[in-house]
Amino acid sequence: MTKRTIVTMPGDGIGRVVLPEALRVLSAVGFEADYVHGDIGWEFWINEGNALPERTVKLLEQHKLGLFGAITSKPKDQASAELSPKLKDQGYVYTSPIVGLRQHFGLDLCIRPCRSFRGNPLNFIRRKGDGFEEPQVDAVIFRQNTEGLYSGVEWTDPPQQVRTALEIHPKMAPFKNVPGEDLAVSTRIFSRPACRRIVGEAFAYAKKFGYKSVTVCEKPNVIRETSGMMRAEAKVAAKDYPDVALWETNIDAQMMWLTKNPEDYGVIVSGNMFGDIVSDGFAGLVGGLGFACSANIGRDVAVFEPTHGSAPKYEKLSPSIVNPIAMILSARMMLDHLGETDKASRIRSAIGAVIAEGKVRTYDLQRLSGGPDAIKQGAVSTTQMTDAIIGKL
Ligand code: NAI
Ligand code: MG
Repeated sequence: MTKRTIVTMPGDGIGRVVLPEALRVLSAVGFEADYVHGDIGWEFWINEGNALPERTVKLLEQHKLGLFGAITSKPKDQASAELSPKLKDQGYVYTSPIVGLRQHFGLDLCIRPCRSFRGNPLNFIRRKGDGFEEPQVDAVIFRQNTEGLYSGVEWTDPPQQVRTALEIHPKMAPFKNVPGEDLAVSTRIFSRPACRRIVGEAFAYAKKFGYKSVTVCEKPNVIRETSGMMRAEAKVAAKDYPDVALWETNIDAQMMWLTKNPEDYGVIVSGNMFGDIVSDGFAGLVGGLGFACSANIGRDVAVFEPTHGSAPKYEKLSPSIVNPIAMILSARMMLDHLGETDKASRIRSAIGAVIAEGKVRTYDLQRLSGGPDAIKQGAVSTTQMTDAIIGKL
């Protein structure tokens, strides 16, 4: 097989810490690839007015596969204030580069598996009788990744054409006299092909990996048009998969049921915003951000990333204390995607062995407050955690 080239985009903060750790694990498991570095993140916003430079887009166009760490995003006013003086007042507008990557390359499938490792002290437990029980959670969230509330079609003080168009709708009446500067509109746009693709892929995944249900998690009773379209497409897709049950939940009720019966759910499919919410919810049951991995998959390009951000408060700690597992699991998803399933499962087993043994634990696994004292209090460093995983391969 020809050697692959993978674009590594560490980004900001702890993205730069955890990404190299994942590469060490890939190498230790015998995965061979060439890596090229892609610039992305806050410093490129400050110095170039673009957090996702065109050269990085070109690299991904060429190589099709990316590993991404995390980026720092800041609110509108702060972003403008930090822009290099030479670029100020020239119309540069900050947008999140990872959202930009997803949209540019049509990475419309976001897959976020949330599976508990036995022995993880952060696993969700529930009262039962006089004791407790620990359900094994194994939910895989399929989040539509390019549309919905994150599509970026939004305004404060919308242009008159937009107001006029919205006023066709009778429900717009209460907003008619709100002054422009006091009116903010973020649109929730769903397209049928995108709904069809995410639900179709969710069912195919459920069948392939033996999950008994696909739950479409939206809110069609209230958000009738967009959630309604997702639900309708789920019903159509379900007809091709008689062995996989279609369940329906509303996002609010789903969040409540998380702590009631999380083990009952298999594949869950949602639009962009609700998928973001429900995947963080499930991640919280299986160890939190230190364990939450994801894949962004398009028809041509795929980018793998932990769901955590750049955790700026930890970026300067030396040695670093953050948990590399979310990033390593994301790299593991890349191996699965490439058909390297044996290497992928060896990585998961190695992580499982380290967790089950319980001797090597980063600060989050010990519920310590992260900070320079964490190591003194018995936490291992990021590097030591990776070493332990490599030791079990
Ligand atoms: P965050 O995920 O960076 O951190 C939240 C907290 O989670 C941290 O303070 C830390 O306690 C914990 N945490 C995160 N990763 C961890 C790890 N690997 N091991 C152990 N603990 C970990 O989210 P926050 O603080 O809301 O955002 C910080 C910056 O990251 C912001 O600028 C935000 O915009 C950006 N962000 C970027 C994302 C991305 O690149 N995909 C996703 C989420 C936030
Ligand atoms: Mg999120």
